[in-house]
Order: sequence, then C-alpha cells, then structure tokens
Amino acid sequence: MDIEGEKSVLPTEEVYHPDMNLYKRAYDDSFKNMEAFWSFNAEILTWYKKWDRVLDDTKKPFYRWFVGGKLNMSYNCVDRHIEQHRRNKAAYIWVGEKGDEKIVTYDGLFRRINNLAKALINLGIKKGDRIVLYMPMIIEAPVAMLAAARIGAVFSFVFAGFGAGALAERINDSKAVLLITADGSFRNGKVVELKKIADEALEMTSTIRNVIVVKHAGNNVDMNEDRDIWYHEVVGDSYTYVEPVQMDANDPLFILYTSGTTGKPKGAVHSTGGYGVWVANTLKWAFNPDEDDRWWCAADIGWITGHSYIVFAPLILGLTSIMYEGSITYPEPDRVWEIIEKYRINILYTSPTAIRMLMKFGDKYPKRHDLSTLKVLGTVGEPINPSAWRWYYETIGNSKCPIIDTYWQTETGGFMIAPQRALGLPPLKPGSATFPLPGVDPAILNDRGEEVKDNEKGYIVFRRPWPGMLMTVNNDDERYVKTYFSKFYGYYFCGDYAIKDSDGYYWLLGRADEVLNVAGHRLGTIEVEDALVSTGLAVEAAAFGKPDPIKGEVIVAFIVPKQIQADRRELISEIRKRIRSDLGPIYVPDEIHIVKLLPKTRSGKIMRRVVKAVALDQIPGDLTTLEDSSSVDEIRSAIEAFR
Ligand code: PRX
Repeated sequence: MDIEGEKSVLPTEEVYHPDMNLYKRAYDDSFKNMEAFWSFNAEILTWYKKWDRVLDDTKKPFYRWFVGGKLNMSYNCVDRHIEQHRRNKAAYIWVGEKGDEKIVTYDGLFRRINNLAKALINLGIKKGDRIVLYMPMIIEAPVAMLAAARIGAVFSFVFAGFGAGALAERINDSKAVLLITADGSFRNGKVVELKKIADEALEMTSTIRNVIVVKHAGNNVDMNEDRDIWYHEVVGDSYTYVEPVQMDANDPLFILYTSGTTGKPKGAVHSTGGYGVWVANTLKWAFNPDEDDRWWCAADIGWITGHSYIVFAPLILGLTSIMYEGSITYPEPDRVWEIIEKYRINILYTSPTAIRMLMKFGDKYPKRHDLSTLKVLGTVGEPINPSAWRWYYETIGNSKCPIIDTYWQTETGGFMIAPQRALGLPPLKPGSATFPLPGVDPAILNDRGEEVKDNEKGYIVFRRPWPGMLMTVNNDDERYVKTYFSKFYGYYFCGDYAIKDSDGYYWLLGRADEVLNVAGHRLGTIEVEDALVSTGLAVEAAAFGKPDPIKGEVIVAFIVPKQIQADRRELISEIRKRIRSDLGPIYVPDEIHIVKLLPKTRSGKIMRRVVKAVALDQIPGDLTTLEDSSSVDEIRSAIEAFR
C-alpha cells in the first residue's frame, strides 16, 4: 500500500536485516509457547521470587501476569546496576533550557532515590499510599517515581502543563496524601509557576497532607508552614539506605490519567511485574540499543512515553538517557540538533508534531550540526505523514537510520506495533508502524465485529492480553470493562482506525471516537466542552478536532454565550484565559466561534458531527433528527465571518 504515492524504503544494508525469521519465530513462540516465552523474557528483571504462573486469565478481562512473583522496580532500575558494572555509568545527562547540564550516574541516582524514600517514610507514607507528582523535566522527577516504587507507594504523575482544575481532579480521584512539585519550570525562556498552580488545585482537594517542593526555577513561592516542605530540607545531604519493599507482580506501580470519550479522565492502573517486563523488552526489541548508546526520548516525563521510555525501560536496561527540560525550539530552532551534536546522541525518539515543526524551519538548522552519531530514529503519538517521515529519514538520519514508528497507548504500557530492529527489520514503508510485537494479536474489525479484508479500514483490536496492559481503571472496574472490552466482546478495543495491507503491514489512521490528538496529546472532546461551559461564560459548547498540518489536529469550539456581549474578542480571550488556568494551555481551542444556537436533536443532544461537518465544509449527513435547521446556518455564517 502506498499513501501519498510513496514507495517503500529499504534502509541501507548496514541496518537492514532481511532475515525476518527471527521475528517470525519470536512472534509465533509468544503464542504457541506462551508460558516458556514469557518466563524467558521476564528474566530481563531481577525477581525476589519467581512467579507461579505466567498468566492468570480466570477473571477475564482482569488479566494478571506473573502471578506470585515478587520484585521491586527501584531495585531493578538502580540497585542491580550499581551491584554490577554500571555504578559510575551515567543514567541521565540532564540538559536545562539555558544549556546548563547535570550528569547523574547510577550511583548518584541510587543515593537520591534512597534519600527521598527515607523522607517519604518519615512523612508517614506507607505501601499502597498514593502520591501525586506535578513536576517538570528535572532529575527529581524520576527520583520521585522510583522513591515511591521503592517503598511501595503508588504514584500518579500529572503532566506539568496541566492547569489547577486538571491537577485537582487527579488528586481527588487518586485520593493522594502527598504532592511533590517544584517552585517552577522553564519554558521558552519564561518561568511557569508550578507551586502557585498547585496551591490553587489544593483549594479544591482535601486529601493531601504534605507538599514537597523542589527549588528549581528560583521564583518566589508561598509556603504553607503546616503543609509544605522544601525538598532539599526534607532529603538532607547525608546518605541513608532504604530496603526496597518486595512488591507483588500485580501490586500497582502507578496510575496515569488519560482522556476518553466521557468528561472525566480515566486513571489507567499499571502493574509492577507485567509492566516492567513489557517496557524493557519492547524497548530492546524495537530499538535494540547498545550498552554505550545515548538514548533520547524527547517526550515529557508526565505522559506515558516519558514514564515507560525515559524512566522505566532505559533504566531497567541500564542505558544512558538524555533528559531535556524546555522547548525544542528555544532559543533557536536548532536546539534539538545542537543537543544531538553536543552529546553525540545515537537514538532519538520523538513525535511527528515535533518533526513537522522542526521541518518547517528548513534544512539549514539540522545542516549546521553533525548528526552522524545517530543510528536509529523513532516516532510516537500520532500517525506520521510520509513527507515528514522522509524528511526525518533523509535529512536527519542521512538515509541510514531506520524509522521506528511505534504505535501504542497509555493503556498498553509500551509499544504494540513497531518495526523491531533486534528481531530483523522489515523493509519500512513511510507511514506504517509495520508489524505487531511478540504477544500482540491485532485484528481489524467492522461495526459488526467481523474481520475486514486486507486494505480495508476498520477498528483495531487486540484479541489477547499482553503483559504491559493496564490492570483496570482506578476505582472503576466497570468502566474498564465497558471502555475496553465491550464494543467487541472480550477484545481490547483501542479506539483507533487502522488498515492492514496485503503485505501484512499495519497503518494506523487516527481515532475512531471523540478523542482529540493535538500535537500528539490525547484530549477528550467532552473535557474541552465541559471546561468551556464551566468558565461560566458559555451555556453550551461543541468542540471538535480540525486537521492541522503541524499539530495533526487543533481544537475548534462553538459556544453559545451566557450573555450577548458587544465585544466578542474580549469574551473569547477571557474564555481562553480561564481554560488555560483550569485545564492547561494544551486545551485552549485555536478557534472559538460564537453562535446563538447549536445544532441539536429533538431530545436536546448537541450534534457535534453536524457542527464539525458544516464548519469543515463537508457534507453533514443525515439531518432529519435536527431540531432547528437555522442552527446550521449559524455555524456556516460564524465560519464565513471568521474567514
Ligand atoms: O490514536 C493513537 C495515537 O495516540 C493514541 C494514544 O495516546 P496516548 O495514550 O496519549 O499515548 C501516546 C503515546 C503512546 C492512540 O490511540 N498514536 C500513538 N502512537 C501512534 C498513534 N497513532 C498512529 N501512529 C502511532 N505511532
């Protein structure tokens, strides 16, 4: 199959292994000899006690992996490396937006984790307690994740770009008792005042007993004497050892909230054992990093990509990661290329939005730098269009680095479909994530649940469980079953459209539900609409994603204002401001249009499909259930006025 008339690309012989037999053998083995396959691959971790059973599927779809196994993730990420030969190896090369740098060895990471773990114990945190982390891209972020894991506390990271409302909602749902944050973070040369946002959020919550604050940006903060403590004070500088708690393979490691088709984000609960086995093996299979490679996953640590591939997988494998705080185009659009040259990075893993953004600035920026250390390139988060793929491949990778397009989700824990360098790279086709990883059993179905033919579009599902899958939705087993296993009974429903071509390659085509993908960030349409209405300035709202050449999609919203106001611009700017502070900047619609009424059914349901079609000049489809046809004209005239 060719999209945009692109031909498939064979990477040069240096990296191309035509022998797909290794992959085929591993893939078949993962089903035919499931127990043996996973028993072997689970040895990537160090276990206190081996599992009694690889998979317990007696309570479908609540699958449990490595049942009876005991381990600790902090031990696996650091202790075992310092006991062996990696004590002085860099775990992280941290680079700040101003160009400042910090190298943290495995030993340094170990000390930091232990010291914070001790501080957490002193604050009364016990196994099973929930901790929320609202932190920028600083070393203390992985330290906090691993200190929590060391003592068996369950962390929930909230991306530092979220606003106070979003943070409060996650604290409330997880019933967290402790929050770790920072005074501020750097972004495009400015300071984002995280502690201030956290203070606002804490007014809407009641479970947090203490707040630990990392001094990072140096901005002024209000410290509440009864509640807030400085990180450096609580941790101190002397070193203390904390024995890692032996966790059950199915004790939760973390909860990560993600958007769905309803208003409230879902807390995906990930296990300790299955998740650990999955992320480490998937990184190895897909990217096949060498011991001395420098790995740069340029995601934010607050999203699943950062959790799995900045923290857990690279540390389990004992790699050296780059961690960069700040904007990829600041102070100049060659920031990424400068970092690659300076730190001689071997593998870069980023999003199609970032690639398109950097491509827009032209070749002169990458051409200024020596990128010859690169040997593998990766992408994640959204479909990559072939022209961005080609630019990445040719201009950045000098036509010698395979592009590892990884399809996966917050809920899957790690890669599901991707070329696998360690098992024999297939010829790559720009825009296709190629083949499923071992243990992943995809199918593409139509509305009736039947498999579609090759080259036909349908819903992608996974027919069998895999170790990295979420265990449930926090506090809501029913929602877990309903969201993922009900549309096609018993199969995991991803929510994406896909095609399998006649060569067996998978092409991911974007969301099949009302989930938006803005710059690789997954946002719920209804979350945006709820936020618009809760500004108090709109009585009704409809939002949808409009295709965008750089960000994939941008948010467009139509609102019915509470009061007819003379100055529309002022109203729109006030709405924008309120959404920014409630949910965060990524939720702010690119376009907000004001109308007197929205298309609705006779039963009063807003017809978002119609709003979107009319606004994008498409055919709106069946309008027989429409209550008032003048609403369609309203949308049309609002769009015309905008143009
Ligand atoms: O629509 C798919 C898209 O991102 C969604 C998952 O978003 P999230 O849970 O935030 O995780 C993002 C990072 C793993 C998917 O349902 N998506 C992710 N990777 C790809 C993709 N779409 C196409 N190609 C990809 N490689």
